[in-house]
Amino acid sequence: PLLPLEDATAVARHGAAELLAAVGADPAWPLGLATGRTMEPLYAELVRLVRALPRQEQQGLRRRWLSFNLDEYVGVPGPSRRREQAQSFRAFMAAQLMEPLQLTADQVCLPHGLALDAQAEAQRYGAAVAAAGGIGLQLLGLGLNGHVGFNEPPCGPGAACRVVDLSASTRRQNAGAFGGDPAATPAQAITLGLVEILAARRILLVVTGASKAAVLARLLCDPPSAALPASWLQGHPAVTVVADRAALSAVIQP
Ligand code: GLP
Repeated sequence: PLLPLEDATAVARHGAAELLAAVGADPAWPLGLATGRTMEPLYAELVRLVRALPRQEQQGLRRRWLSFNLDEYVGVPGPSRRREQAQSFRAFMAAQLMEPLQLTADQVCLPHGLALDAQAEAQRYGAAVAAAGGIGLQLLGLGLNGHVGFNEPPCGPGAACRVVDLSASTRRQNAGAFGGDPAATPAQAITLGLVEILAARRILLVVTGASKAAVLARLLCDPPSAALPASWLQGHPAVTVVADRAALSAVIQP
């Protein structure tokens, strides 16, 4: 289903409440987490919700927490003490969730982007997700070119966890964290594939802002195809698309 909400704040509130409920659910499947600007207000809201809980509930949540991020750049160090160097997704997660919620590094899992053999690391990571029972609730953002995780087009539904080359469009989209220079933005990443994403019990695709209006309209209106990797989500039995008014501006008239 599609859940249209007013703005990014309402979307963040909804997403944070879903994540909190998923951590408390029985059985507690691992969470699937994403990075990107869309997730920043959502994680901030989650931190606020958790801090408002009684201490015992906070401790219970910390004990239960296990999450796997979708992806990580190849070759980007971090976290470091200097926040401005927080370019890896590991550093992003440390700053947004791990430190504020006092979670440990083995509870907030990401691929190791500095592994000597990235392909072997991708295989290890995919196996680790499977060994944990697969993902329960998978949180997803949407790339401007229709990627989910770093599954760049063209990408079929049979792609599993692997090393990928990042497209010029994605390197431009994410250059902000690298001094605005697409050439300084990593050329490769490790990402969970559509295989692991589609194996999640539930999927929450979060889309905000007018810049996503065109790609969201394609996703909601076009049949599934490799040209739009996110379109394979249409075949999943339990996907919710949560979007704000700006992101829906190309499909819903005011
Ligand atoms: C990034 C990540 C995705 C993210 C997407 C959208 O490159 N690999 O997991 O969801 O692109 O990013 P943003 O929220 O910054 O628009």
